[in-house]
Amino acid sequence: MLNKLLLATTSEGKVREIKRLFEGSGIEILIADQSLQVEEKGLSFLENAYLKAKAYYEVYGIPTFADDSGLVIPALDGYPGIYSSRFYSLSWGGQEPVETTRDMANIKKVLRLMEGVEDRSAYFFACVLVYAGDWGLWAEGRCDGSITYEPRGEGGFGYDPIFQPEGYTKTMAELRPEEKDKISHRGKALRRLLELLKMLK
Ligand code: IMP
Repeated sequence: MLNKLLLATTSEGKVREIKRLFEGSGIEILIADQSLQVEEKGLSFLENAYLKAKAYYEVYGIPTFADDSGLVIPALDGYPGIYSSRFYSLSWGGQEPVETTRDMANIKKVLRLMEGVEDRSAYFFACVLVYAGDWGLWAEGRCDGSITYEPRGEGGFGYDPIFQPEGYTKTMAELRPEEKDKISHRGKALRRLLELLKMLK
């Protein structure tokens, strides 16, 4: 089994969650000393995770872990989807100015487009991947829920304040970190990936 993995991300929210999810796994998570600007030009979460991991692996030569994830809203034709991090800037649905943070601009755009929309179902999706040049492994996870009418909660990151997981009355941003990890797309995907990595022993 691998004992070290380089993390191919600069997103603070993701780094925090990924480190937490790897705790107790026996795998040490390394953070790159420089962040690489990787163009996410893939057409799927898997393709984008692969592009990120490969870029870091080529620079550092260390088995690399990447996560590509997003929020899928069927009533918005699957958007924000693979464009989740920069949804505010897409011309699809009209651009949203960044008044405070990009996360907040993304949230405002979703709430604007969901005004008067009855079907508020949505899901978070994550593809996690380990790439080491001549081999790679990946796993996926999904968390179903719905879009609220206004943001609530301070925890998590991204769209968490407007996502209410199925069976909960709180938003993802109102859950404790360990509660989010139990049900989140990233938590599910990462636990599957760890099972696969164990088989490498
Ligand atoms: P990526 O860095 O291209 O994978 O972009 C992922 C984007 O999807 C983030 O910037 C968030 O906007 C959104 N996202 C992914 N996972 C989560 C999550 O767990 N909570 C809230 N938003 C998320």
